[in-house]
Amino acid sequence: MLSSGVMRLMKDSFGRTIDYLRVSITDRCNLRCIYCMPPEGVDWMPHDDVIRFEEIIRICRIMAVMGIRNIKVTGGEPLARRGAADLVRGVKALPGIEKVTMTTNGVLLGEYLDALIDAGLDAVNISLDSMDEDNFNRITRKENPGQILFAINRARDLGLPIKINCVPLRGVNEGDITKLAGLAKNSNIAVRFIELMPLGTAVALRPVPADEVMALLEGEYGSLSPSAAKLGNGPAVYYTLPGFEGHIGFISALSHGFCESCNRLRLTAAGFLKPCLSGDMGLDLRSLLRSGVSDKGIEKAIAELVSRKPAHHSFGGTQDRPDHSQKEMFRIGG
Ligand code: GTP
Ligand code: 5AD
Ligand code: SF4
Repeated sequence: MLSSGVMRLMKDSFGRTIDYLRVSITDRCNLRCIYCMPPEGVDWMPHDDVIRFEEIIRICRIMAVMGIRNIKVTGGEPLARRGAADLVRGVKALPGIEKVTMTTNGVLLGEYLDALIDAGLDAVNISLDSMDEDNFNRITRKENPGQILFAINRARDLGLPIKINCVPLRGVNEGDITKLAGLAKNSNIAVRFIELMPLGTAVALRPVPADEVMALLEGEYGSLSPSAAKLGNGPAVYYTLPGFEGHIGFISALSHGFCESCNRLRLTAAGFLKPCLSGDMGLDLRSLLRSGVSDKGIEKAIAELVSRKPAHHSFGGTQDRPDHSQKEMFRIGG
């Protein structure tokens, strides 16, 4: 509960306000994106190691008191965990929480859309790296983009704010970039291009830098103009294109870093609280919770972790040490 009715602010040692928590609710996924997982898949975490919904709710309740206002539900694929909509409802009901959003690969979104909207989901981000069936299959090693496009259209018709995430990969989906951006032409959708970050299997792939994506888009659609639109709580910067109803966004952790304005913490599916996407630092909240520590004790441990939040990610250059379990995107939650 918000004790005195006063909204607390959580600040780190660099004066950054921390009000956004990304919560990975599962390491499982129904796709095998080449920048995220090996073709044979991975060993999923044992069931008991995965943070329970009631534990997530407790953590979010404590962190809402501390200053968290926005929650992003991620995975793996969050909709691969049964009851994801119930979790959204539970988190949305917490005093102090303003927005609950989800990042999904969209495969199961059509099925759960009504339940998610009913639960109070405020917006959805959908990964889509290509609309071309062969290329989509080459990247995700599964499925086809049809059901995702169906879910995007339905979500739009139901009025749920949508952002599309595309990770441009050299020699893979460069040719699909302009068509994907076209999704923002006649709909109020944001299409974002995310610079590949060197974690896990991604270290073997090459990114297409944001400046190059911009040049491609300008060649096709005209000049990009910076937009002041506030379309979420993440690090994307937004632009408009002539005649476009929606926005184009860029998330460029390497070429245009955004760490100085970082506002977030991450809870992995193992219940490990990370102050930064990169690096090993964190707090084993799952063990702390299961050892019977009081809310006050947990708050103290979180505050101590926040005070050690690093100034900057450690992706340095183009390589990060791969293969650390806490460094795989599907475990961290992006
Ligand atoms: P909203 O704009 O509020 O929807 O949030 P978001 O853009 O953070 O959400 P999403 O889950 O769609 O993340 C998009 C991409 O941004 C993913 O590839 C994330 O890994 C990346 N991202 C989000 N936060 C950070 C961060 O703090 N550091 C880095 N390096 N990447 C981040
Ligand atoms: N670099 C950048 N983005 C990534 N994503 C997954 N792995 C990486 C990576 N190595 C993206 C997904 C999803 C979002 C949560 O993170 O495409 O849209
Ligand atoms: Fe699944 Fe997302 Fe990883 Fe693709 S990037 S395999 S959709 S968790």
